[in-house]
Amino acid sequence: MSKTVLLAGGAGYIGSHTAIELIDKGYKAVIADCHYNSNPIVYERLKEITGTDIPHYNIDVCDENALNRVFEENNIDVVIDFAGYKAVGESVREPMKYYKNNLNSTFSLVNTMERHGVSNIIFSSSATVYGMNNPSPLTEDMNLGPCTNPYGWTKFMNEEILRDLSAANEELSVVLLRYFNPIGAHSSGLIGEDPKDIPNNLMPYIAQVASGKLEILSVFGNDYDTHDGTGVRDYIHVVDLAKAHVLAADYASEHKGVEAFNIGTGVGYSVLDIVKAFERVNNLTIPYKITERRPGDIATCYADSSKAEKILGWKAEKNLEDMCRDTWNWQSKNPEGYK
Ligand code: UD1
Repeated sequence: MSKTVLLAGGAGYIGSHTAIELIDKGYKAVIADCHYNSNPIVYERLKEITGTDIPHYNIDVCDENALNRVFEENNIDVVIDFAGYKAVGESVREPMKYYKNNLNSTFSLVNTMERHGVSNIIFSSSATVYGMNNPSPLTEDMNLGPCTNPYGWTKFMNEEILRDLSAANEELSVVLLRYFNPIGAHSSGLIGEDPKDIPNNLMPYIAQVASGKLEILSVFGNDYDTHDGTGVRDYIHVVDLAKAHVLAADYASEHKGVEAFNIGTGVGYSVLDIVKAFERVNNLTIPYKITERRPGDIATCYADSSKAEKILGWKAEKNLEDMCRDTWNWQSKNPEGYK
C-alpha cells in the first residue's frame, strides 16, 4: 500500500514542488497550510500537473487541535515540516514572531505525531545553520552556528530539538535536509516562487527586474574575497531539491535515529555569474548596480553533498541554465505570481 506524507506548509514554494515528486513516486500527499506565505490557487495547479486532487487543510500547523483532525482523517506515515517563516531581515526586526511560529509549528507536529504513533519526520533546515565561520565546501560533521539572525537560529534550534527527541525515543526517525539556495520552478511554468512582498532573495529579485516589476538589481557588495568580488552561493534547482525529499521519505521509513544531509550542487556561483547566466539563457538584460554589503552575508557558501549521494542516492541533475530558464518560464507566465 502506498505511504502517505503530510506536507506541513506544503502549499509553499518547496512544498508544492515536493508534492509533485512524491505523487510521481507513488506516495499519497496531504497538505496542511494556512496560506500565510502561499496561495490556495496552487492546489488547482498541482491538480493540472499531477492529475490528483491533493487533500488539503487550511489550518495553522501551530493549532494542535486542527492538526489532530488531519491525523485522524489520514493515515500519515511521514511528516515533512516545511512550515515556517523565512524572511531573514524580518526575523531580525521581529524575532519573537519567528521563534514563536517556527518552534511552535514543529512542537505541534511532533506532539501530534506522538499522539498518533507516527515516527518519521523530515525537517526543512538550511545551510544557514553552519554559521559564519565554517569554510566551504560545508560538510554535515562541521560544528554548527553561530547563526547570524533569528531565522537561522530557529533552524538551528529545531535541529537540536529533533536531535534530543530522537535520543529519547529510539523509534523516531529524523532527517534534517539542509537546503542551500533553491531557485528555478517546475518546467510546466504552473508553479514557482511567489514572494509575498519585495523579494529578499537574489533569483526572485532578478526575475522581477526581468519582468519590469522592479527597476534595477542591487548587487550587495563586490569586494568579497571571491573570483569577481560578489557573493558565492550554491544554487539548487527546486525540482532537484523536491526529489531529495522523496528519497528522504524512503530513507526515514527504513531507518531510525537522526541524519542530516546537505542538499546542494557542490558548485558555487557568484551574484554576477547568476546575472550573466540569466541574461544569456533568456536573452534579456538585467540592469544592476553595486551597492553596500548586506549585513550578515558571508563571501562564500557551498555544499559538499557527497553524503546525500552516498546514503540517499541523491544528486542534483539540473544545471544553472535549467534554473535560469525555468525561473523565467514561471515568472513570464505569471508576472503577478498566483494572483
Ligand atoms: C538567505 C539567508 C539564508 C536563507 C536563504 C533562503 C541571509 C544572510 N541568508 O541566503 O539564511 O536560508 O536566504 O531564504 O539572508 N544578493 C544581492 N542582491 C539581492 C539579493 C541577494 O546581491 O537583491 C546576493 C547576496 O548578497 C548573496 C546572494 O545574492 O551573496 C544570495 O542571496 P540570497 O538569495 O538572499 O540568499 P542567501 O543570503 O545565501
